[in-house]
Amino acid sequence: MNGRPEVPDWSTPAIEGGPEALLLIPGPTPLAAEVLAALARPPLSHTAPATAMAVRAVQAGVGAALGAGPDVQVHVVPGSGTLALESSLVNVVEPGDRVVCCSHGYFGDRFAVVAERLGAEVVRLEAPWGEGVDPARVAAALAQGPVRAVTVTHVDTSTAVAAPLAGVADVMRGRDSLLVLDAVASAGGMPVGMARLGIDVVATSSQKALAMPAGLALIAVGPRALARRAARGGVGSLYLDWAAWAPVMEEPTRYFATPAVNLVVAAAAACRRAEAEGWGPRFARHRLVARAARAGLAALGMPVAAAPAAELAATLSAVRVPAPVDAVELRRAVQEEGVVIAGGLGPWAEGTIRVGHMGEVRLPEVLTGLAALERALARVGGRRIDGAGAAAALTAAGAKGDGPAADGPSP
Ligand SMILES: Cc1ncc(COP(=O)(O)O)c(C=O)c1O
Repeated sequence: MNGRPEVPDWSTPAIEGGPEALLLIPGPTPLAAEVLAALARPPLSHTAPATAMAVRAVQAGVGAALGAGPDVQVHVVPGSGTLALESSLVNVVEPGDRVVCCSHGYFGDRFAVVAERLGAEVVRLEAPWGEGVDPARVAAALAQGPVRAVTVTHVDTSTAVAAPLAGVADVMRGRDSLLVLDAVASAGGMPVGMARLGIDVVATSSQKALAMPAGLALIAVGPRALARRAARGGVGSLYLDWAAWAPVMEEPTRYFATPAVNLVVAAAAACRRAEAEGWGPRFARHRLVARAARAGLAALGMPVAAAPAAELAATLSAVRVPAPVDAVELRRAVQEEGVVIAGGLGPWAEGTIRVGHMGEVRLPEVLTGLAALERALARVGGRRIDGAGAAAALTAAGAKGDGPAADGPSP
């Protein structure tokens, strides 16, 4: 590399495409002021009682977000979501094990690759993009012989479709196979129902609907998965070995590897905020905001890209861009309005955009995003400015208190 790498100019206003634009991408997501303040505190000792308190608060908060039972151990490890996926399989899968991987997009495929790297015999059950995997296919795969684990991606961020999780859990009930879930794009914004559905391992991370800074892998390990790890001699990774982390997760003043102290303190602050809101109301709020966002996007000529029968995520939307607008040009124009949205992935790379509406993103932020999109569409697509996106979103949201109630109680 020639010369010094440039450091971003943090004084550039968002409106000029500076670094402090409103993030409406599917993670990292905006952070609350007290979470940012926690990041800026002087570091604590990694074994200090205050650090241990923060770890326990994150374990409890994440456990509550996932609907985990009291026998679940939540591991808080420096790393990203991909590390959480690796952790969730390396401890329970050994070479030659059959692993059924349900994939309905880019990240479901990644989970299958993780299993393949461990030497598993992987049975890939792939859904067409924009649909979920039919649980009947999981039942058929289970009927063909012993299966160590079934992986499911709760929300595949590439399609914004939610898997038929309850259906998969149903066909697995009473079997020895472990149900291992990627909840990276759902935890904190949608109910997971870990105890209710009998999910053995949930892998997630900090930077999406949990509204924590990026950098924490969060792995909730149920008793059957812990027993499976205990029944094995060793695993092929030291850093990811649950047996190495377990003493620290039981008593966080102990040392195995240095925790990301400031991230953990900030994550604890995010949990306090979420608990003050209440997880049930928070999930209902996500459903309301998702409904408003999708109504607004559709009114701007951008309908959901998923199949009509698919279950949609509450945390983000993937929508089609109206022809002949170029999705990359549209995103650039939106960024000039001070808002960042994401592009499509895989076969949807062209012609779709993805809008995150999770964590600290509420109705006002979605309205800002719709306004930015409308101005951008006027510039790159010649669309008339008439406020249709914001109007449709407001209509869909209804008056305060209407929306979540109309949507039914959160599970
Ligand atoms: C559903 C899902 N799984 C896994 C990952 C990988 O997480 P990370 O990028 O934090 O490694 C992502 C990232 O966006 C994701 O959306």
